[in-house]
Amino acid sequence: MFKKHIFVCTEGKTCPNQGSKEVLAELRQALSADSHDNEGIRINKAGCFSQCGNGPMIVIYPEGVWYCQVNTGDCKEIVEEHLGKNKIVERLLYGSKPAQA
Ligand code: FES
Repeated sequence: MFKKHIFVCTEGKTCPNQGSKEVLAELRQALSADSHDNEGIRINKAGCFSQCGNGPMIVIYPEGVWYCQVNTGDCKEIVEEHLGKNKIVERLLYGSKPAQA
């Protein structure tokens, strides 16, 4: 089992068009550049979460935290705060933002 397991929706019908593949790449880049202990942290592509239109969407386990409308500029903060310090990035929480069209 991984200490943290991050899934990025890259296969659904909307998230890829909203930049999810770039978010996936940026998360991996930010994680590799981060100075925290990255042992046991895994980032995977995922299929649709059935929350289309709110992407790019990511989910982090074991917390089961869902982030929505993530962009590449958010990735460093997710890595440093959530993965590094176990602090949820409240402003990106799914349900905390109005849905996109
Ligand atoms: S395309 Fe990402 S939740 Fe459906």
